[in-house]
Amino acid sequence: MSGITYDYMEQYIRSLIPDSNNILKELEEYAKENSVPIIQKEVGKFLELMINIKRPVKILELGTAIGYSAILMQLSSNNTTTITTIERNKDMVNIACDNISKYGFQDKIKVLEGDCLEVLEKLEGKYDFIFMDAGKGHYNHFLPQCLRLLNGDGVIVADNVLFKGMVASKELLKRRKITIVKRMKSYLEMVSNSKELITSVIPMGDGIAVTTRRHNNE
Ligand SMILES: C[S@@+](CC[C@H](N)C(=O)[O-])C[C@H]1O[C@@H](n2cnc3c(N)ncnc32)[C@H](O)[C@@H]1O
Repeated sequence: MSGITYDYMEQYIRSLIPDSNNILKELEEYAKENSVPIIQKEVGKFLELMINIKRPVKILELGTAIGYSAILMQLSSNNTTTITTIERNKDMVNIACDNISKYGFQDKIKVLEGDCLEVLEKLEGKYDFIFMDAGKGHYNHFLPQCLRLLNGDGVIVADNVLFKGMVASKELLKRRKITIVKRMKSYLEMVSNSKELITSVIPMGDGIAVTTRRHNNE
């Protein structure tokens, strides 16, 4: 399991989540068979919840893979929502675009091919909800661009911020992950220490950080 929380707790929480609909089930099976990392079940449920509360009109995603989380967010949204999702791996872009067309979301989900940092720099307009799920070692570099693109009352959800527990515990830290972990810590410090932002880090899945702009004067 994730190394973030107790296995029995995770299993119990997952047991409460109803089976996915057929589209998501097919994509989950494909991801499992082909070892494509996609969001964990409880993170999917959290995104669905956030989208129901927030009702974003424009969503931006960093890291498309096969399009699973983009499709999940679209299924959680109403008809006016559009999603822009960024992916640098050409094979993934092709698979995601095929899936998006296969399930009829081509007018709602747009895949932009390229490295997040380069694509983010060129994007214009504002987004109500940003989901970060690409380039774990670069969240701190993506943040200024994401804040530029985030609406005044927008929300950023960043996945994998506890990175199998390595961000919180030196004992779990693997040498080859030192740089990623350092940068992830830097992201968490940036969003936690900024006077303009409020962030809650939740030990769910591989750890998520939920950030929004502060609207009081504290
Ligand atoms: C964890 S997967 C995304 C999973 C997807 N959000 C889902 O749950 O269905 C991360 C994806 O980000 C892509 N990626 C990693 N670094 C990137 C970067 N700097 N720019 C664009 N894409 C990147 C990888 O190719 C991979 O497909």
